[in-house]
Amino acid sequence: MQLEIIPCLNDNYSYLIKDDQTSTVAIIDPSEFDPCDKKINQKYKKLDFILNTHHHFDHVGGNAELKKKYGSKILGFEQDKKRIPEIDVQLKDGQEFKVGNLNFKVIYIPGHTLGHIAFYLEKEKIVFTGDTLFSLGCGRIFEGTYQQMFNSLNKIKNLPGETKIYCGHEYTKNNLGFCLKFNPNNNHLRDKEKLIDAKIKTGKPTIPSTIKDEIQTNIFLRYDDLDVKDALNLKNASDLEIFTKLRDLKDNF
Ligand SMILES: [Fe+2]
Repeated sequence: MQLEIIPCLNDNYSYLIKDDQTSTVAIIDPSEFDPCDKKINQKYKKLDFILNTHHHFDHVGGNAELKKKYGSKILGFEQDKKRIPEIDVQLKDGQEFKVGNLNFKVIYIPGHTLGHIAFYLEKEKIVFTGDTLFSLGCGRIFEGTYQQMFNSLNKIKNLPGETKIYCGHEYTKNNLGFCLKFNPNNNHLRDKEKLIDAKIKTGKPTIPSTIKDEIQTNIFLRYDDLDVKDALNLKNASDLEIFTKLRDLKDNF
């Protein structure tokens, strides 16, 4: 398969994919029409499917215009049928569907919004996590509970370590600063800092990372790390309490 990263708006990423065997083309979370249309025109001149992880405008902003131009089918979570513009196919948790010969699986991950889903390609070892899991961070909890977000992140954490993570925003550098502040003795973070700085310096996305990499570095998956508990002065707190404290601190970081 082919995968193109399309930078949109200030710091969003949309993802254009093509199944080579059938020349089927899909886009994940088209933030806005122009940059997505430009890339589609340049590469494939067609768009069969639009996949939305959640209803926020910076993930569905291109839906209507792209559908109108290319006659694409729009897929989103069933509970968000009223909030995803021009939705055609309502997906359920655990449902599998095809983009050409690529087999996608829906993973329901509420917290950032109540209808948030991830798209998982098991064979290709790729997951599109929208605004739930970022590189070195996680999304704000706008609609769900801390417990829901915690459970959702753990669902993603349990995917195979080599799975590549494509998320909705380029927030990695800011997230790194937060991880370093509250997990100062994590040497993996120092190594990651060099890689991130080199990519940013040359104007490249810091995406994708991998599940293994995130488990080593992303503080929102490291609620049981004694160094983190120490830094928060919460040595006897539960995993959920640590996660909750971290999420609150990050909101004002
Ligand atoms: Fe969002």
